[in-house]
Amino acid sequence: MMSTIDRGHWSSKLGFILAAAGSAVGLGNIWKFPYITGENGGGWFVLIYLICIACVGLPIMTAEIFIGRTAQSSPVGAFRALSRPGSPWIGVGWLGVATAFVILSYYSVVAGWAMHYAWLSISGAFARISPDQIAPIFATGDLSDPGLYENAPLNLLWHILFMGLTIAIVIGGIRGGVERWARILMPVLFLFLLVLLGRAMTTEGFAGALDFVFGPHSDKLTPAGVLEALGHAFFTLSLGMGAMITYGSYLKSDDDLVTTSITVSVLDTIIALVACMVLFPIIFAYGMEPSAGPGLVFVSLPIAFAQMPAGSFWATLFFVLLTFAALTSAISLLEVAVSYFIDEKGWKRSRATLLCGGVILVLGIPSALSGGTELFGAGFQSATGALGIKEGAGLNWFDFFDYLASNWMLPLGGLGIALFVAWRVGGEAREQGFRAGTQYGRLYWAWIHLLRYVVPIGVVLVFLNAIGLLGILDEIAW
Ligand code: PHE
Repeated sequence: MMSTIDRGHWSSKLGFILAAAGSAVGLGNIWKFPYITGENGGGWFVLIYLICIACVGLPIMTAEIFIGRTAQSSPVGAFRALSRPGSPWIGVGWLGVATAFVILSYYSVVAGWAMHYAWLSISGAFARISPDQIAPIFATGDLSDPGLYENAPLNLLWHILFMGLTIAIVIGGIRGGVERWARILMPVLFLFLLVLLGRAMTTEGFAGALDFVFGPHSDKLTPAGVLEALGHAFFTLSLGMGAMITYGSYLKSDDDLVTTSITVSVLDTIIALVACMVLFPIIFAYGMEPSAGPGLVFVSLPIAFAQMPAGSFWATLFFVLLTFAALTSAISLLEVAVSYFIDEKGWKRSRATLLCGGVILVLGIPSALSGGTELFGAGFQSATGALGIKEGAGLNWFDFFDYLASNWMLPLGGLGIALFVAWRVGGEAREQGFRAGTQYGRLYWAWIHLLRYVVPIGVVLVFLNAIGLLGILDEIAW
């Protein structure tokens, strides 16, 4: 049953673009993308990532916004409205809501670290400690490491604080909460990133970083790395779980689908690339390795900042930026869960937000207590073994949730969304919907063909890789 209460709308197209870009731009761009680029040796990996964004990410983004805008409902109601009664497609909507709970529970823990680091920078703590004291702040995830448990209460505290902020914003509604805060936080984020880019350009590492990210290097690239790029396209664009369906549902039915999807995807991509151009010059200038993995932002970078003139200032800009990016993404994750209870159960927003936020907070406690981790490390590239779980990684609750979400839930949801729009939604309605309000209607043919063939093949490859069936390809030298 679709609800009749006023669900709210964005005040303008810009409001939607800022909120959707806020969802897309997050830890995935500023933390994960630079370190997977580092691990995969830059160069070709970046080019392949760009192709994945254009050929898989962008079509799914358009499909999600199409579903939400057409049905004017959050994922579960949207799949119900657009399919026959009793049809199993509604399962894709359910999966999305479940994924929101899973992802936000551990996302909030990482965002909590970012806040903790912002605090350490503001209070000047980083400037006072020596580089070798920085690594233990970010515990290693090795369960035998006693440092892990020392950090647990602190992780919990920051997780609770971050969830509190997210809840406080979402409770304010679409215009008064989500859009309002996107309008404040996103411009600050852009500004800080530009200032940091300016600083990075003056380091002697800049030329080396340019070459590392954009030069034709393929020495570290493996087939699994290619699939890691593909998998990351889902995560970074917030696809496969209905976040864009939900945000799209607050658009008016003739708002331009094509330009909004392209703008959000391009913004997300530019920010990921600029994040690399901020991080790598600093990493190179202070003689550190680009392939440091998840610790690139949380260990290597603070060590570099500690040696930089006015390092506390630059560190503050960076970690505040990281916190803001995470916050606007967390808002969209919570909104998916909240809008389900508002649309389907007729709950008031305040009740839905407090309840969903509370459950996610509790669900995140084991992750917060997991301490540091190989975060995202049990992802596409490193997954081996029967279940794809990296052997000897000391897989904890945190890693398990991330593994589940990034390797299975998001690609599965993305596949469902692509197949639904490409093969199930009535052809004429789909074409009209795509063309409504846009001058780029001629892209329709390309959109449909990418959704029909390229996206499913890509997702199946990601699955095969996740269960270790493509491991053999790694042995083949490129
Ligand atoms: N896109 C966000 C990031 O890059 C994460 C996210 C995933 C947000 C799925 C919403 C939904 O960090």
